[in-house]
Amino acid sequence: MGGGCSGVCMALIGPIHVAPMMEVTDRWFRQVHRLWAPGVVQWTEMVVGHAVLHGDRHRVIGFDPSEHPVVVQLGGDDPAVLAQAARIVEDAGYDEINLNVGCPSSRVRAGAFGAILMRRPDRVARVVEAMRSAVSIPVHVKHRIGVDELDAYEDMLRFVDTVASAGCDTFYVHARKAWLQGLSPKENRTVPPLRHDEVHRLKAERPHLTIVTNGGITTDDAVDAHLAEVDGVMIGRAAADDPWWMASLSQRILRMPGPATRLDAIEVVRPVIARAVAEGRPPHAVTRHLVHLFANQPGTRRWRRALSEHRHDPDGGLDAAVAELHAAMEAA
Ligand SMILES: Cc1cc2nc3c(=O)[nH]c(=O)nc-3n(C[C@H](O)[C@H](O)[C@H](O)COP(=O)(O)O)c2cc1C
Repeated sequence: MGGGCSGVCMALIGPIHVAPMMEVTDRWFRQVHRLWAPGVVQWTEMVVGHAVLHGDRHRVIGFDPSEHPVVVQLGGDDPAVLAQAARIVEDAGYDEINLNVGCPSSRVRAGAFGAILMRRPDRVARVVEAMRSAVSIPVHVKHRIGVDELDAYEDMLRFVDTVASAGCDTFYVHARKAWLQGLSPKENRTVPPLRHDEVHRLKAERPHLTIVTNGGITTDDAVDAHLAEVDGVMIGRAAADDPWWMASLSQRILRMPGPATRLDAIEVVRPVIARAVAEGRPPHAVTRHLVHLFANQPGTRRWRRALSEHRHDPDGGLDAAVAELHAAMEAA
């Protein structure tokens, strides 16, 4: 795996990551996926630096110890604020810290951070430097291959080299550029074409850096092909849309088995539901992450419908959905 990365690979927290996704990879998602895919690295949703400093800490950065290894992703562009936020999340127990240089949403753009920072590699280097000197856990960056007209391979290389000169040795690369005007965040995840070859080239030309590629990875073959070229893969939408695939990757590639079957996978999450309820959260805060457990399987529609219709049951609809699933299987 990751040709020519001997030594550096050791620093990598793991070769398979679930991408940070706002309103998806919350703490309940991460606890459920930790049980199903024990070897896969989980990431938080992006948390704005100011929210870490001034928000309700439990709500903003709280997590369960079972989630390790877990990376917190911060957003912002102020070195002093992010250094302080980094210290707080390190004290909270996170394993690593990532800086978001890839989000193109207008809200984030208005704050002058996210993908627009690809235009300001010196600023990103200063932020990384400030964060690194504030903490002893790894600090790294997730970025695009380019923004707007600044999208040549050489532009990305300049960005990476500048940030690496501040001591960052790990880069998570969403292998498509972002258009800061004219495309919605959703379109920015589909319209610009994927250019994984440029991420592979980055690894080949900077073998001492740890490089993880991201974007549109949905099959075992794609995972294997990327792992032959770079140090890791990061999977976003496919992890949410087919969580059992992540369980299979944890087993096949990392040799870390979770539950043997999808039915077993249902049972292991019951304590997570109990934890959520004990914290005053509704049970479906957890069971909403089970909706796609049976993706591409017989009975998946009835499973999904029952989970939705019974989401206010004390078990978040699990028993009703399991009954529907069995009925669908018997009918098949
Ligand atoms: C609903 C949603 C929310 C996202 N939120 C974030 C985020 O908070 N931080 C970030 O760096 N990327 C975010 N992304 C981008 C993903 O991390 C990832 O880079 C992108 O979806 C491409 O990977 P995929 O094709 O495997 O989904 C988000 C993507 C989705 C679909």
